[in-house]
Amino acid sequence: MTKEKTKEVTTSVKLPHKIVEIFEGEARYRCAYGGRGSAKTRSFALMTAVRGYTWAMEGKQGQILCALEHLNSLDESSLEEVKSAIRGVDFLNDFYELGEKFIRSKCGRINYVFSGLRRNLDSIKSKARIILCWVDEAEGVSDTAWQKLIPTVREDNSEIWVTWNPETKHSATHRRFRVHPPQDMKIAEINWRDNPYFPDVLDKERQQDKINRPDLYDHIWEGEMLIHAEGAYYAVEMREATHNERMTNVPYDSSVGVITAWDLGMGDSTSIWFAQMVGAEVRLIDYYESSGVGLDHYAKVLNEKGYIYDQHILPHDVRVRELGSGRSRLETLDSLGVRPVQIAPQLNVDDGIQAVRSMLGRCWFDAEKCERGIDALRQYRREYDEKGMTWRSRPLHDWTSHCADAMRYLAIGYRPASNWGEPIRRNLQGIV
Ligand SMILES: Nc1ncnc2c1ncn2[C@@H]1O[C@H](COP(=O)(O)OP(=O)(O)OP(=O)(O)O)[C@@H](O)[C@H]1O
Ligand SMILES: [Mg+2]
Repeated sequence: MTKEKTKEVTTSVKLPHKIVEIFEGEARYRCAYGGRGSAKTRSFALMTAVRGYTWAMEGKQGQILCALEHLNSLDESSLEEVKSAIRGVDFLNDFYELGEKFIRSKCGRINYVFSGLRRNLDSIKSKARIILCWVDEAEGVSDTAWQKLIPTVREDNSEIWVTWNPETKHSATHRRFRVHPPQDMKIAEINWRDNPYFPDVLDKERQQDKINRPDLYDHIWEGEMLIHAEGAYYAVEMREATHNERMTNVPYDSSVGVITAWDLGMGDSTSIWFAQMVGAEVRLIDYYESSGVGLDHYAKVLNEKGYIYDQHILPHDVRVRELGSGRSRLETLDSLGVRPVQIAPQLNVDDGIQAVRSMLGRCWFDAEKCERGIDALRQYRREYDEKGMTWRSRPLHDWTSHCADAMRYLAIGYRPASNWGEPIRRNLQGIV
């Protein structure tokens, strides 16, 4: 490939110091995470344009993909951010052509594409020659989306840039870039104090939040994980459980049978709570969640835990026959030895949530084994309508849903074991 003549141009753009470090040297991934107003979006938008410029000068050709998780229209995209970044810098302004709905270099080498990962992922897959993909607001991007997106960005020396406001340590983005980081990555935490352009209007909001919303302050402004989400169904009950030290060490008691409550995911996560009912107490001794594996996997996990089981509570749709095998999941579980089964009644979600609320006051959680389940119950929340700025009546479907559904089945599906079994346990306890 012949390299075209490059023009010596000294360019300068203004960026916060921490951002400059992310863009120094070679890297496949460049990431920044942190609280509100820390200049993530502005800086990365600007840097996409700078990168497009330098790549074009080196004779490279391709697309810059600016993605968000949800994107219903171009108005919601990063288009305007990128345009205003370009307008603010003379050499970029000269280099790019800014249309109402497009951005491209005048030389024709660089073209911007704006996409939503939820809806347009498959069309992204077919987009040729992505030399740079920037995902902003990436906290909620699922692992499936990352798995599909990353191999699509396959041009020589292509790069993936990611910016987000951390919310939960269980998010796919957190796990992919902070817990198991790829080798060739530059990453930095950036917060409001790192942004030399942090505007007064946001600083006033920040100071008010410090006083009025101390619970949320660290999450909103300091890039900390969210502990109790706004609009969370069980915020009061879960706070109370923490406060009353009911999140502690709750060991398995071998004299009492274990109840499991399942939410069965179809191509989604399957969640299982393990509970022991002792008097009025509901002891949550364990929690398990996985995805992309068959029912035999869960039967094996139950076996390996070594608990003695009393009953397995399953959602009502477990009776539905699957198209491929003609068998129901109930039959499959039965053949795997997961029995006896109790099918949870088909109540609406609100009644189920109410049932969980009344049960939570009697719940004790093993803090270690149920860590993910506890976090999910803390954050299970109503869906927020961004446009109308109101809470919807239905729950948000996210990583917390399966755990919360399994908890609902426990609350509405638990029936004390058959009568002849009970006196035996009582006698045993009486003797002790
Ligand atoms: N290079 C810059 N020049 C001038 N102002 C800037 C620059 N970078 C950031 N700002 C100011 O800081 C504000 C916050 O920046 P930005 O929107 O990029 O933050 P963010 O980290 O993406 O915030 P959020 O988490 O809310 O999405 C901007 O609205 C702007 O006022
Ligand atoms: Mg932003």
